[in-house]
Amino acid sequence: KRSCSTTVPSASHVMRRGFSSESSPERKVAVLGAAGGIGQPLALLMKLNPLVSKLSLYDIAGTPGVAADISHINTRSEVAGFMGEDQLGQALEGSDIVIIPAGVPRKPGMTRDDLFNINAGIVKSLCTAISKYCPNALVNMISNPVNSTVPIAAEIFKKAGTYDEKKLFGVTTLDVVRAKTFYAGKAKVNVAGVNVPVVGGHAGITILPLFSQATPRANLADEEIKALTKRTQDGGTEVVEAKAGKGSATLSMAYAGAIFADACLKGLNGVPDVVECSFVQSTVTELPFFASKVRLGKNGVEEVLGLGLLSDYEQQGLEALKPELKSSIEKGIKFANQS
Ligand code: NAD
Ligand code: LMR
Repeated sequence: KRSCSTTVPSASHVMRRGFSSESSPERKVAVLGAAGGIGQPLALLMKLNPLVSKLSLYDIAGTPGVAADISHINTRSEVAGFMGEDQLGQALEGSDIVIIPAGVPRKPGMTRDDLFNINAGIVKSLCTAISKYCPNALVNMISNPVNSTVPIAAEIFKKAGTYDEKKLFGVTTLDVVRAKTFYAGKAKVNVAGVNVPVVGGHAGITILPLFSQATPRANLADEEIKALTKRTQDGGTEVVEAKAGKGSATLSMAYAGAIFADACLKGLNGVPDVVECSFVQSTVTELPFFASKVRLGKNGVEEVLGLGLLSDYEQQGLEALKPELKSSIEKGIKFANQS
């Protein structure tokens, strides 16, 4: 079985398959926030994915240019750009997957929760439209704070009577991407073969990489594991500080978002044993949402996998993250129900 391990096809593989994959089912993917820092490279990567037949690019501004540009790439999908709320319905109609990187990013000194006031409202309005125009789509939530935006989406869908817990995903793939990269560097192993599950949530200490389960195994000292854990938890902040006011991770996030969407497409298409980590409705802990390995299938989540054996250090990390994650989840639920 694979564990958080789907790989994005190589460019040459994509180009080859781009012309020969018309036999795979028609799949429409919509990107909401498609003209943004994540949206543009993510749109590009989805255009390179031969499993996509229609690519719908929506934003409040700038989408005509992005769509025209990307549409010239000679791969399978037809590209259409949509701008402004009156075109949102058209952008969403018929979508199999909706990826949401809409909203403001962090600046140095901010936490992801500091984005709540602006992004909660954006996510709420986009999810209201999803429940109306494509209630059966898989939703890949990228907008921060993910620990709250996913519960907001769930509540909005519940109110609309369209909630299906198998179809809502908080995208935590970037945490897995980082954990793999940092582990490979420290363990001096080929990064291409590395797997590391990352569980919990997507902010600070709620991000819990399980290096005790990393493969290939390496004999790292406790201090090295602690440093790797901290670097994974602070990976987003590392980029925010390096960008010095110009936003947060966009390129690595687009890569991670493309991996996760590709896994969802494979699941929908019936490919067996597609497993990725994601923040989903869960009974793995007492918290209603939790990130862990998830098997993807024709209806979205096929199975939420358990945590496996944890080291003492990871067990402590798990207990330590619960209060923060719980309060972020509750904040999202409260927002959705009061506004
Ligand atoms: P950005 O500002 O570059 O782009 C955001 C885009 O969203 C803009 O083009 C903007 O016009 C658009 N937008 C705003 N309101 C909208 C609406 N109502 N409908 C549609 N589009 C709308 O920001 P970015 O760097 O692309 O980051 C986007 C979000 O992704 C942020 O919240 C950021 O924190 C988050 N993020 C999450 C992860 C993760 O791992 N889940 C990683 C990186 C960034
Ligand atoms: C990340 O992990 O890079 C994102 O959540 C963006 C951020 O604010 O750190």
